[in-house]
Amino acid sequence: MEKWKMKSNSLNKRHIAILGSTGSIGKQTLDVISYHRDAFEVELLTANNNADLLIEQALKFTPNSVVICNTELYEKVKNALAHTDIKVFAGVESAGELAGAEDVQIVVAAMVGFSGLKPTIAAMKRGKIIALANKETLVAAGSIISSLSQQYNAPIIPVDSEHSAIFQCLQGERTRIEKIILTASGGPFRNWDISDFEKITPKNALAHPNWDMGAKVTIDSATMMNKGLEVIEAAWLFNLPVDQIEVIVHPQSVVHSMVQFTDGSLKAQLGYPDMRVPIQFALSYPDRIELNTQRLDFVQLKELTFFAPDMKKFPCLRIAYDAFRKGGNAPCAISGANEIAVNAFLNGKIKFIQIPQVIENTIQKCTFVSAPTLDDIFETNSQAQRIAAEIVGAM
Ligand SMILES: NC(=O)c1ccc[n+]([C@@H]2O[C@H](COP(=O)([O-])OP(=O)(O)OC[C@H]3O[C@@H](n4cnc5c(N)ncnc54)[C@H](OP(=O)(O)O)[C@@H]3O)[C@@H](O)[C@H]2O)c1
Repeated sequence: MEKWKMKSNSLNKRHIAILGSTGSIGKQTLDVISYHRDAFEVELLTANNNADLLIEQALKFTPNSVVICNTELYEKVKNALAHTDIKVFAGVESAGELAGAEDVQIVVAAMVGFSGLKPTIAAMKRGKIIALANKETLVAAGSIISSLSQQYNAPIIPVDSEHSAIFQCLQGERTRIEKIILTASGGPFRNWDISDFEKITPKNALAHPNWDMGAKVTIDSATMMNKGLEVIEAAWLFNLPVDQIEVIVHPQSVVHSMVQFTDGSLKAQLGYPDMRVPIQFALSYPDRIELNTQRLDFVQLKELTFFAPDMKKFPCLRIAYDAFRKGGNAPCAISGANEIAVNAFLNGKIKFIQIPQVIENTIQKCTFVSAPTLDDIFETNSQAQRIAAEIVGAM
């Protein structure tokens, strides 16, 4: 630890709210903050069900407030923190309200799935900087989120490692982008024969080769829906049509993504796979501060390999491209259906290979809206989830 002694005191102290502090991204954000206590102050922590961890985090980081979104756990958290000055609230509405509080400067949006949309919008309307991990927010409501970002001067800084890589590659650039190349690890089934996909269990799918993440994003990585959602996320973040966003499988996850410019030059961002790097960059931007992440040793690196993705094995990637091309509420519908399908797979109700079937069948039955309002987005998500649940029930 001493070897990588932190030098963060060049930054003015930044005040952070973490939506979803008990998740994988939330915990890693707090890990970054714990190395840079002189640079970052925690203002707000939120959890859904993990009251014990929220209490532990609150006692360690002494935020101004905490929110337990599952209202049934309010008394437990309230009693545990009664001897402190920390204010305790319940319900997801409180999470959005407090993320927009005066003292907060940066909101780390790290809830999972559609649950992150409302509180992120509430924070944007108060002009906060959004460090965005929750890609489903942009997938479901990309045009609305982009407009809000402009209207309320609420910049979005990507936390997803691929999008952070692109964001880093674009620093100092004024030239047009010709193409973005999003790298994908390919997940645990890259080398499996398609005939064996029938047998995939949740345990197989939860064993990601390179990243330790929450269950939903890990399953999304295994189906490659994660990369599909990331294509849509990149299209909104960098204002590009999806045809200028290419996915390349890169099993070592060392090249985090690349940008190709109109003169044929390519810029890539590389590093050891560690989510704390993009999280920290989003918090310290535009500065870089030290981090004790493992360093790349190019001499020791055996190989860096790249392959085209196999759309037959991983139809979710094609489904996501198609949904963005269709536009309107189609990306929201696939994201909503995917949440239900992933849960059903994790609970043993459907097979891995049925996940794309649930999503495709759902999208055919959902009402298409070409220019959705926010109300339409909430309606689409509910409709997609209801239809997907019916399809799962009939399987
Ligand atoms: N993990 C990664 O490395 C990674 C990388 C890139 C992008 N992302 C994206 O970042 C987001 C978070 O991923 P994660 O892996 O950190 O997920 P995770 O480990 O499952 O954590 C999700 C967090 O959201 C909270 N939450 C879940 N449902 C909620 C609800 N209905 N209302 C309010 N809060 C709720 C959870 O609370 P409890 O735990 O207390 O129930 C937890 O704090 C996802 O959108 C994912 O795609 C993750």
